[in-house]
Amino acid sequence: MGICLGSPAKSFHSTSCQVLGNKVAPGNSNPGLNPPNQQTHSGTLCDVPIGFKGDLPVYINLKSFTITDLKNATKNFCVDSLIGEGVVAIKKLKMNSFQGHREWLTEVNYLGQLHHENLVKLIGYCSESKNRLLVYEFMAKGCLDNHLFKKGVQPMSWARRMHVAADIARGLSFLHGLDANVIYRDLKASNVLIDSKFKAKLADFGLARNGPSGDGTHVSTRVVGTMGYAAPEYVATGHLTPKSDVYSFGVVLLELLSGKRAMGDETIGGAEDSLVDWARPYLRDNRQFSRIMDTRLRGEYSKKGAQAAASLALRCLQIDAKNRPAMVEVLATLEELQATKVVLKNSPRAYKVEHHVNGMLSPHGTTRDGRLLR
Ligand SMILES: Nc1ncnc2c1ncn2[C@@H]1O[C@H](COP(=O)(O)OP(=O)(O)O)[C@@H](O)[C@H]1O
Ligand SMILES: [Mg+2]
Repeated sequence: MGICLGSPAKSFHSTSCQVLGNKVAPGNSNPGLNPPNQQTHSGTLCDVPIGFKGDLPVYINLKSFTITDLKNATKNFCVDSLIGEGVVAIKKLKMNSFQGHREWLTEVNYLGQLHHENLVKLIGYCSESKNRLLVYEFMAKGCLDNHLFKKGVQPMSWARRMHVAADIARGLSFLHGLDANVIYRDLKASNVLIDSKFKAKLADFGLARNGPSGDGTHVSTRVVGTMGYAAPEYVATGHLTPKSDVYSFGVVLLELLSGKRAMGDETIGGAEDSLVDWARPYLRDNRQFSRIMDTRLRGEYSKKGAQAAASLALRCLQIDAKNRPAMVEVLATLEELQATKVVLKNSPRAYKVEHHVNGMLSPHGTTRDGRLLR
């Protein structure tokens, strides 16, 4: 199932959509949908619209589909076509609301222009009479929310969690580094999608907007986003800065560490309780930080690595936005952490940390390919 259901996090934005996957094998030309381009973009290519159709910008790399194309691809949007397998995913706006259309257009605009290995690839769209649909590359492993919180799903390993954190940080650093200073504004586990190789990408750009330019310190906006993830100063004032994304990143990092939901996790209290409030005292105390760690990891993580990730989360969650690190700094810290490998001994609880030291043995007694010497 591609629809991410059951998240108690309250969204303040109005897009209501259904996501369907077409099950047509690459090469079957019948529905008129091509498989996504497999090439990954790690660069910062930005396309500009080549024209406008009404209020809709036309991008050279985006396909414009007819509703008949998409009906054929999804057996008339039949429930059988809900994501499970496929080569593309189709998001259909359910409600014919002004706000919904605005968010749909915002997503076409940003994802039509921005290409990066950690942003989901938009293949095309359909805007025919009242129908509004988006066609994306298919993200086989669904949303991060499912991997972290869905019952019965295999818990993610520590290494995988740290990879996902770095992928998200890379996507956000790319956005913040653009001239337009793009702010993503709705970072949460259900907006992070995972592909078949477990690479994480940011999706759902309906709330993104350009950040402050020139001497501006912030942009003033209506408060939209998701409870539990939105930065407190933004919720209080509507003043938006890239540091609002950094706060939301801190919340997602905390979710990765703890396996608990940003809001209303039953293991930390009632529906109104936030993960950040619960975790903050433990994050501040190095001797207590392990209280926040997900027990499903069964202790299989590097204590030093986890401690560093926890203190990074605490910095991202600073109440004063000025004290939060920039996203590039967050990314650098996570990449450094990834260069630190964990080797497990036979016992699942035991681990040792090792460092790669330019082809030499490290002080921890590791070989050049990173295995531990015993
Ligand atoms: N490209 C995709 N591949 C696979 N699943 C997707 C894709 N896009 C969205 N989904 C699924 O649909 C859910 C909702 O998509 P999203 O773009 O966040 O829309 P919404 O505006 O409803 O939040 C995601 O959490 C994910 O489970
Ligand atoms: Mg979403």
